[in-house]
Amino acid sequence: MSSQIDHLLDETRKFPPSEEFAAQSVSSPELYERAAADREAFWAEQSRELLSWNTPFTRVLDWSTPPFAKWFDDGELNVAYNCLDRHVEAGNGDRVALHWEGEPGDSRSITYAELTEEVKRVANVLEDLGIGHGDRVAIYLPMIPEAVASMLAVARVGAIHSVVFGGFSADSLRARIDDAGAKLVITADGGYRKGRVSALKPAVDQALSDRGDGEQQTVEHVLVVKRGENEVDWQEGRDVWWHDAVPAASADHEAQAFPSENPLFILYTSGTTGKPKGILHTSGGYLTQAAYSHKYVFDLHPETDVYWCTADIGWITGHSYVTYGPLANGATQVIYEGTPDSPHPGRWWEIIEKYRVSIFYTAPTAIRSFMKIGRSVPQKFDLSSLRLLGSVGEPINPEAWIWYRDVIGAGKTPIVDTWWQTETGAIMVSALPGVTATKPGSAQVPLPGISIDVVDESGTEVGNGNGGLLVITEPWPSMLRGIWGDPERYKETYWEKFENQGYYFAGDGARLDDDGDLWLLGRVDDVMNVSGHRLSTAEIESSLVAHEATAEAAVVGASDETTGQAVVAFVIIKESYLSAHDPAGLAQQLRLWVGEQIGAIARPRDVYIVGELPKTRSGKIMRRLLRDVAEGREVGDTTTLADTAVMSIISAQVK
Ligand code: WT7
Repeated sequence: MSSQIDHLLDETRKFPPSEEFAAQSVSSPELYERAAADREAFWAEQSRELLSWNTPFTRVLDWSTPPFAKWFDDGELNVAYNCLDRHVEAGNGDRVALHWEGEPGDSRSITYAELTEEVKRVANVLEDLGIGHGDRVAIYLPMIPEAVASMLAVARVGAIHSVVFGGFSADSLRARIDDAGAKLVITADGGYRKGRVSALKPAVDQALSDRGDGEQQTVEHVLVVKRGENEVDWQEGRDVWWHDAVPAASADHEAQAFPSENPLFILYTSGTTGKPKGILHTSGGYLTQAAYSHKYVFDLHPETDVYWCTADIGWITGHSYVTYGPLANGATQVIYEGTPDSPHPGRWWEIIEKYRVSIFYTAPTAIRSFMKIGRSVPQKFDLSSLRLLGSVGEPINPEAWIWYRDVIGAGKTPIVDTWWQTETGAIMVSALPGVTATKPGSAQVPLPGISIDVVDESGTEVGNGNGGLLVITEPWPSMLRGIWGDPERYKETYWEKFENQGYYFAGDGARLDDDGDLWLLGRVDDVMNVSGHRLSTAEIESSLVAHEATAEAAVVGASDETTGQAVVAFVIIKESYLSAHDPAGLAQQLRLWVGEQIGAIARPRDVYIVGELPKTRSGKIMRRLLRDVAEGREVGDTTTLADTAVMSIISAQVK
């Protein structure tokens, strides 16, 4: 089977940066030239410029035992010192690091001096609890300042954090604690979500309870933040209140330097299939690329910008673009505890207005849900402080891109569509605002210093105008260093497919357009084969969403006697349309629409109008489950769904 993916949609609009934007931009075309001239020298230069090393490195990349990379490996640094103390020492202690907004409307602004002091105290508490170099600490917290402080304190003492998203169940938490052999869990009584305190401590208690024979308990202590007023069960000797221990601890703590390749964190990613993988990241290379990409992709001016990334720290985006990148760069940022619609649907826009946010980074799934409610909500707020918008997590269809630019960005802000993965640690593909003319729907070009290609099954370049598989052809500083405890799985999953070429296989389909710009086409596992044509989910979904009646869409390939596979679409209709049109008529209209827009080959065999789509907790559609429905099978494992009831509703609607 050919790996060529057919290309159906064309987008020709381009938005060059305004002269005003380009004139003040931190990046310049010269970055690409310098990186192309000598990639390793470029990264060394970035690292020296952006970070403070206690022991300067003399070696850049050691790739003598691929796929296990070492970056800057004879250098030593302290990651927390780089994110905190050095800004205070440079005279910026009074700059706000975090504007924190709680869901009920309580808020705290914390300066770099205050955050540094807090992290020093927490580091002392961790050491008192027996945590040191190489120990694993699970963090299971809501989006509160203590979450960021915890990550940095763990890094400060040379330990390894494993942040587990607060929406995960006790079972998921238990699996992650056990896999990493965590010695300490940091949690809270709960956190605000949708107007009430959703409990966290009971899940920790459950995850640590009922050990069977041979099931070892590695956790010695649980450090508990009091966020709400929830009653908690208390285990004397094991549990420690944050508000007892932290204020009582000393605010002096010397940051010791650790080797560049010292592990910094493990982050579990389940993707859409299989047992979660503990993705391992280390210190010097990771922090270099997190800081570098944050500075140039978001055109950061740390003295004046107010930056807001809406991701939870439970995801890689929250690691690289809430905690490490922004703080290494001395940025001022907003973090928000709650859901976008609590207590009212304009909550996010209200926060942008309140803090005069200038750089805003979010996910297409959020943008589409705002489109569904309509522009009248954001239009009630003053969004004039925004000067740059970002997108991450899945392809952003041109329709949503234009809405984002027009309605949120007043028709003038550049939009950076950033492609990367938990595994890549930092942004790999994105426009550079101020340099690149942006193109709706395309993630565009590799960052300076990054080498990306699109190849066929045999590893040969497909060239401009063609689709295939996305690969990374050279090692990069923030690359994963492995899967915790499973080096074989690391090799198999990412490196075996293009072993001869030595390429990293990302698992995504992609296309290069005639300008050489990159278009992400969805996971390769989801590509459909209709009458011998390989069709991407992303393009057909984009076409469906471009219809005025559609709020969201997911397509899958279902086996078909005549065509091999047939396109089956699941579509959420905007409320205003549902009441005025009959569903059968709408479904037929959408079939024809796709046929007209992108060709008969892509016309869905079936269009099902549904009320919800099955999504993981990070907002990715689980097409595997929709395939089960489309092929009339029993629906498979739904445990990683954000809402496990969704599949029975969809199955019933389809019947
Ligand atoms: C997968 C990685 C990267 C942080 C959040 C997700 C998809 C990510 C884009 C984008 C199209 C994208 C890919 C990738 N993806 N960004 N800008 N355009 N697709 O991290 O959970 O590790 O997911 O998300 O399929 O492989 P993750």
